[in-house]
Amino acid sequence: MITTFCMYDILIIGSGPAGYVAAIRAAQLGLKVGCVEQSSIGGTCLNIGCIPSKSLLDSSYKHYQLEDQYSKHGLEIKDVSIDLKKMMSRKDEVVKQLTNGVSALFKSNKIDLIEGKAKVTSDTSVEVSKDGESHIYETKNIIIATGSSPTELNNINFTSNIVDSEGALKFEGIPKQLIVIGAGIIGLELGSVWARLGSEVTILEAQQEFLPMLDARMSRQILREFNRQGLDIRFGSNILDISDTTTGVEVKFQENGEDINLKAEKMIIAIGRKPNTQDLFNNDLVSIDDKGFIEVDEYCQTKTKTIWAIGDVVRGPMLAHKASEEGIMVSERIAGENFLINYAHIPNVIYTHPEVAWVGKNEKELKSLDVDYKSGSFPFAASGRALSSGESTGSVTIHADNETDQILGIQVFGPSASEIMHQGLIAMDNEITSEKFSSTIFSHPTVSEALHEATLGMNQKAIHIQNRKKKK
Ligand code: NAI
Repeated sequence: MITTFCMYDILIIGSGPAGYVAAIRAAQLGLKVGCVEQSSIGGTCLNIGCIPSKSLLDSSYKHYQLEDQYSKHGLEIKDVSIDLKKMMSRKDEVVKQLTNGVSALFKSNKIDLIEGKAKVTSDTSVEVSKDGESHIYETKNIIIATGSSPTELNNINFTSNIVDSEGALKFEGIPKQLIVIGAGIIGLELGSVWARLGSEVTILEAQQEFLPMLDARMSRQILREFNRQGLDIRFGSNILDISDTTTGVEVKFQENGEDINLKAEKMIIAIGRKPNTQDLFNNDLVSIDDKGFIEVDEYCQTKTKTIWAIGDVVRGPMLAHKASEEGIMVSERIAGENFLINYAHIPNVIYTHPEVAWVGKNEKELKSLDVDYKSGSFPFAASGRALSSGESTGSVTIHADNETDQILGIQVFGPSASEIMHQGLIAMDNEITSEKFSSTIFSHPTVSEALHEATLGMNQKAIHIQNRKKKK
């Protein structure tokens, strides 16, 4: 039976970081909002992505510290054991606390949570189906925020041994050997979790280059450290066949022309994600490109003016904070405000230990754009605070325009990399020159001083390392 319900100002499809943030902002602006969700409130990020993975990254890092770090501080800890069940239930608790928080925010902002699977039926209506029943909801605007799913590899089915990023957060035991396909963000984060808990981890990467979004010197440094931590990352791997042998998995691949067979207890496939745009429309109200992304303008508006799309279903990086910012932008624009996103300044973090964080342009991009730039770097090995805490691996690199002195790019590998990078990002966003930034007084001793010194170094004023000669 089909019933027509009340009119919304905005009906949002999906309650992940794109959808729930759009909903809350729109409600704050006085709009009547409904949000349709077919699964759990909070989407991938809160339920099966960012939050549970960070929870396991932190738990496993504590184990790594107990086993490998504390003795260096003179703290001998004997008989360390892992209670994986407890670690997993702590992770589930964290997820529950955050998703309950979003539910409470929906209630306090008077946002209707509509459970079911949505389909856009016209420029102002959405059909929601659940348990064999369908309802049509009328709305002035529709925001599509349906997120993304893991990309499959050669149509290989996921099993209990061959899993995607979600399955990798639910192993019931610590696999003796683990093969990860893809040395991207998910592969490195999840590979780190299980390596720290004792798995022998091999990562098979198709490309020859490691973390190509970073300067070559930075990625070489990161690779050295990850290898030291026990991640065996193999480049130029062409996967030929994968089979689940019930007791484990077997992969046949070619590495630089040589055929290799590898066995392991478990396998994680992390070769990217694809937008969830299938079965969403029964008409051509929006255009979808050949990779499945919904085509939108810089304001996330589709070719139908009442339909908007945000987050992983549209162009740009698949990042929760980019998705949330788009949610705010669209809700504000619908409410008549003027909000713009600076897509050039979206920060990125890989939550390994040490973290990898970057924003803006790398050397390759600056060279290809023919930008006259200067650079400064500072190693954490020269930072008093990093050395004191025993976390002196890595460095900071910063690039700025030679003429205008505007900061163009920041890359950090090291302790609190994400926090350090954000300090530089504020300078970038506010067009603070590197000279002005370096005149700010930083507390001593802090790891943030590394960013300060890198900026000083860029202008041949570093104190704690040798200054490089200025390019003529
Ligand atoms: P990714 O694009 O970061 O990395 C995938 C890797 O797999 C690439 O290095 C690629 O060359 C490799 N690859 C592709 N096909 C392959 C094949 N057949 N054999 C071997 N290697 C192959 O994708 P990933 O790691 O799956 O993450 C998906 C998305 O989720 C990313 O866009 C990422 O931004 C986002 N994400 C962000 C996180 C964060 O901000 N910390 C955490 C988790 C995910």
